[in-house]
Amino acid sequence: MPHPLHGHFLLDPAVTFLNHGSFGACPRPVFEEYQAWQLRLERQPVAFLDPVRGYGRWLAEAREALAAEIGAEADDLVGVTNATVALNIVARSLPLGPGDEILTTDHEYAALDKTWAFVAARRGARVVVAPLPLPLRSEEAFTEAIEARMTSRTRVLFLSHITSATALRLPIERIVARARERGILTVVDGAHAPGHIPLDLRALGADFYAGNCHKWLMAPKGSAFLHARRDRQALLSPLVVSHGWTADRAEPGPFGGTAFVDSFEMQGTRDPAAFLAVPAAIRFRREHDWDRVAERCRTLVDGVEARMAELTGLSPLSGPEFRAPQMAALRVPARGEARDLQARLLEQHGIEIPCYDWAGHRIVRVSAQGYNDRDDMDRLVAALADIFALPAAA
Ligand SMILES: Cc1ncc(COP(=O)(O)O)c(C=O)c1O
Repeated sequence: MPHPLHGHFLLDPAVTFLNHGSFGACPRPVFEEYQAWQLRLERQPVAFLDPVRGYGRWLAEAREALAAEIGAEADDLVGVTNATVALNIVARSLPLGPGDEILTTDHEYAALDKTWAFVAARRGARVVVAPLPLPLRSEEAFTEAIEARMTSRTRVLFLSHITSATALRLPIERIVARARERGILTVVDGAHAPGHIPLDLRALGADFYAGNCHKWLMAPKGSAFLHARRDRQALLSPLVVSHGWTADRAEPGPFGGTAFVDSFEMQGTRDPAAFLAVPAAIRFRREHDWDRVAERCRTLVDGVEARMAELTGLSPLSGPEFRAPQMAALRVPARGEARDLQARLLEQHGIEIPCYDWAGHRIVRVSAQGYNDRDDMDRLVAALADIFALPAAA
């Protein structure tokens, strides 16, 4: 029997779904709200796509609801399709030149490594990678590892709030403040953060912050945001220049939003339904006391991490305070190919979970969301014990 909350989701009950981290999963009422927006658009496209009386106003309402969740002002964020888009906007906008350095860590999402490599190659800039100490056990060691790589040429610090491959919650607050003191632009990849860890973007003070709403906030796919400090917004150019653009960034935008909001939100004909359903996702979480649900999920991940470490003798990549609350990179023996392990878990055990190699570690990344329960974790441990001929799981 799946957990009772499973009934709120559209996931196939025949699959043990332990990969919320990759693309999220959207609860039924949120998905219905998303479809209702789409129907409304199709019934009266002209009224809907009116940037002032139609979707411009509704997007502003959605931004208000999201801003309250993440400790921000609604006019300092814009809805975008995904974190990759948000971070491409930033990377491709910043005024980098020959010899400039973009400082980052060795735990970043591979697609974004490509984005910065692309930008660096065109500008004659250089990407500098700071290796993080593993296992990660202290904020001091983390901060020092990054600060040690800062030079007079460092223009940008780019780092994840929660890492993808290693499922670490990086203690970024101090290094963001240090970088800003040194005049370095700070760019945070918060793809996994909204709905997963408490966010207060005002207090963090990063220059640019990208977050996905379609992962842990459980909004429909294609809902994300880019947040920029007010004093940095003029640095950004949209990837698509359209009706909303205004050359004088000090002036309001042509549709009554700020120059920042209009130039990023009014970009040709598009379907904004996913972002318009963000308030429904926030509401769903509140109605179902999601803080408690998240705490239960954290306990599930704590348990599976401890059991696997005991069975394999392979220790976790961080202390518990630096692990993503609802996600863990479980280390397993590096036998055969990672993709074969992933296929075997799905085909023979009905478990959807990502398996890959990272820096010499074979990793099975487990996620727990409200629809998961202890049985799911038992199934995973039993399957891995079977595959690796480990002692029977406790
Ligand atoms: C750390 C990190 N950054 C960025 C992304 C990209 O997210 P999206 O595909 O929604 O743009 C991911 C996706 O898993 C991620 O884990």
